[in-house]
Amino acid sequence: MSDLLRALAGETPERTPVWFMRQAGRSLPEYRELRVGTRMLDACLTPDLASEITLQPVRRHGVDAAVFFSDIVIPLRLAGVDVVIEPGRGPVFADPVRTAADVARITAIDPADLDGTAIAEAVRLTVAELGDTPLIGFAGAPFTLAAYLIEGGPSKEHLRARAMMHADPASWNALAGWLSRISRRFLEIQRDAGASVVQLFDSWAGSLSPTDYRTHIAPHSRAALEGIGLPSIHFGVGTGPFLADMRLDGIADAVGVDWRMPLDEAIRIVGDDVAVQGNIDPALLQAPWPVLEAHVRDVIERGRGAKGHVLNLGHGVPPETDPHQLTRIVQLAHGEL
Ligand code: CP3
Repeated sequence: MSDLLRALAGETPERTPVWFMRQAGRSLPEYRELRVGTRMLDACLTPDLASEITLQPVRRHGVDAAVFFSDIVIPLRLAGVDVVIEPGRGPVFADPVRTAADVARITAIDPADLDGTAIAEAVRLTVAELGDTPLIGFAGAPFTLAAYLIEGGPSKEHLRARAMMHADPASWNALAGWLSRISRRFLEIQRDAGASVVQLFDSWAGSLSPTDYRTHIAPHSRAALEGIGLPSIHFGVGTGPFLADMRLDGIADAVGVDWRMPLDEAIRIVGDDVAVQGNIDPALLQAPWPVLEAHVRDVIERGRGAKGHVLNLGHGVPPETDPHQLTRIVQLAHGEL
């Protein structure tokens, strides 16, 4: 069994398994070269391109897992929703979903109808090349997707999405339930084509109060993951106040922790009977290696109290990162430095 799967099963392999959120992407010159002339979502839907981009960081850094090159909005695009990714900005929707009528219109699309052919093909090509290295499939959690869809694009406090939960709870539940089925379908396509772990990204959950998270969000995120049949990681940013809820009643095998809280403190909150993933501060990637090295050693040390630790960043790799810093972190985790 690979070290990643062992850690997710609660074991402590000799070498700490490590991968990086957003490892496939803009910090790599070989990625930027491949992407010239192709729009982000078109690249995701071109199987040989998506597969090659997924493999690049595995070859370069020797990480313990590949993460599938795609995007959280891809299943929406496959469902026929008009969405593009604007460089430097993020997902932008032509028709924001704001009223009960908007919700009724979009939820009439059956998630079972989305065409997963290109995704399945890209996953199969990738898994064939990876050998024993596991492929992590992923999806966006319902709240993070709703935060984009309701607003129509990126926003700071996701006010419209948080407002809908209270102003029109029936529409909110219909929309979040539909998004959870959309993301679930995306996970199933990746699973059926050979992914061996899944991660649910709730990047913007930190804008919620613990009560709103528990009442209006957690049941929908849980539905996206429950019974998927693969080890799962549930990640959010700024979720310290409700980190224990991120376990989703025991459905998640690992909880992702951002950089704001020391890992040992996070373990006290989530419990020492679940794996954790994290939590190198992405800002430290800009620091001289000795400073970053001390930080990474500290994270590994604090992770020892967990029932399984997967080393990662507290959020994605910033585009301006020197890739050599990432390679050195892998070497350190593997006891090669
Ligand atoms: O992690 C990986 O390497 C796998 C691929 C991956 C991408 N997006 C590729 C991508 C994953 C797992 C995601 C998830 C994703 N997408 C999230 C959750 C993770 C997180 O970082 O919080 C979110 C919120 C999105 C939505 C999204 N897509 C944003 C905010 C952006 C950035 C826009 C920008 O240019 O600043 C994207 C675009 C995106 N997704 C890029 C990549 C490599 C950059 C596209 C480019 O090269 O221009």
